[in-house]
Amino acid sequence: MNSTIETLINHRSDRSFLDKAIPDDVLDSIIQAAYRAPTSIHSQQVSLVITRDKATKAKLAELAGGQPWIAQAPVFITFVLDMYKTAEGMKLTGETQIAHESIESVVSGSIDVGIALGTAMAAARSAGLGVVPIGGIRRDPLEVIKLLNLPEMTMPINGLTLGYVDEPAALKPRLPLATFRHEEAYRTEGLNTLIVQHNDELTQHWKNIDRNGGESWSNTVANYYKNIYFPNVLPALKKQGFGTEK
Ligand SMILES: Cc1cc2nc3c(=O)[nH]c(=O)nc-3n(C[C@H](O)[C@H](O)[C@H](O)COP(=O)(O)O)c2cc1C
Repeated sequence: MNSTIETLINHRSDRSFLDKAIPDDVLDSIIQAAYRAPTSIHSQQVSLVITRDKATKAKLAELAGGQPWIAQAPVFITFVLDMYKTAEGMKLTGETQIAHESIESVVSGSIDVGIALGTAMAAARSAGLGVVPIGGIRRDPLEVIKLLNLPEMTMPINGLTLGYVDEPAALKPRLPLATFRHEEAYRTEGLNTLIVQHNDELTQHWKNIDRNGGESWSNTVANYYKNIYFPNVLPALKKQGFGTEK
């Protein structure tokens, strides 16, 4: 196994950071890696906002529902779906952008953002940094939009904390591979047994790392997915000019 794949397989979210700055050249190379990521139709509909200011990070930590590692990490990056840029580009042709009125743009733009995010995480971890992807910035997107001065036709999709790790996280178990890898066609048989197996493994994992109240996988997803997790996303998308009906 080569070292790139080893880094990827050893992914974990580290939520404990040292008070140690990230050198500019290291941060630049992580951003460069994300910048070179592919985008749908070469739209380049992704922008990154880098936050190092302590007060802004503290505000983002609060907006994300109280996530102290956002404030603690030296750098926070907001990954933005950016169809403002494409609309500006189109103006030079005399055409008007309507694609942002479609759910397809939200889907394809979110994929592009996800690829940039994954690329940045891989680059950061290969440079010895710890990462936590932060969906919590979608908890109150309009406040994030205001704080970061995001224009119309943009949407903060996900964040990323970056820093040198203080207390490394343990590798978190996954559902058995057979629930993930399907040969030729999707298979539902045996899923229940594999989920029960993972529930036991995850519960044991929490015990091993002394996390009191750690839940089984079924309980974790139930706690989140019995509700609409971030109900403010749809109104924020609409306010920014995105559509979901077409
Ligand atoms: C899109 C996305 C959003 C996430 N949002 C948060 C978040 O807001 N806060 C947080 O602490 N972890 C967040 N995570 C991290 C997940 O909780 C974590 O990946 C999962 O529990 C598996 O643990 P691991 O990354 O250590 O393997 C997010 C992960 C992803 C992929």
